[in-house]
Amino acid sequence: MTKKTIDADAILNRAKPLVHQQAHEIQPYGHLVKLPIALAEQSCKESVDNLNQLLADTMTLRDLYKKHHWQVAGPTFYQLHLLFDKHYEQQNELVDAIAERIQLLGGVSLAMAHDVAETTLIPRPPKGREEAPVQISRLLHAHEIVLKEARTMARLAAKLGDDGTNDLIVSDVIRSNELQVWFVAEHVVDAPPSRAL
Ligand SMILES: [Fe+2]
Repeated sequence: MTKKTIDADAILNRAKPLVHQQAHEIQPYGHLVKLPIALAEQSCKESVDNLNQLLADTMTLRDLYKKHHWQVAGPTFYQLHLLFDKHYEQQNELVDAIAERIQLLGGVSLAMAHDVAETTLIPRPPKGREEAPVQISRLLHAHEIVLKEARTMARLAAKLGDDGTNDLIVSDVIRSNELQVWFVAEHVVDAPPSRAL
């Protein structure tokens, strides 16, 4: 019996990582791949377009919370530091749910910061630190942008027969945003005038 010669180089080559590979995209942004989910292609397309807008704004709101978590200052520092991070985590879960819904509808979800920055409707904050009431105003404004578009998108999804998207927007996005607005807004009530002694 002849013994097979082992070519050590050939074997090692099989274990070598294949780096720097390049190829065309398998699905360009804006193009739909039809999945068997019993939903008209036009419905999927409209939902995907709307959800990508909602995704960009939710990612921006999420990152605004982290910015403010890091940069908050003042007597309510600890409270706001914790609250902002909690809302960041909740928004992050919404981001994942929205992005995955876009994919299951056959679309391509936005992902990178550059693309999000081009798409979002939420005004860009300065790079520097701002005082807590300004941070809170920014967050409330961002929430209102998200809530306004989310309500319109939810109604449209229901009209298109896309109940899953309607449910995600109503049950998760709208309800979470409304609740967060309450928690954040209660920090900016006027203090009662101090009583003269
Ligand atoms: Fe932190």
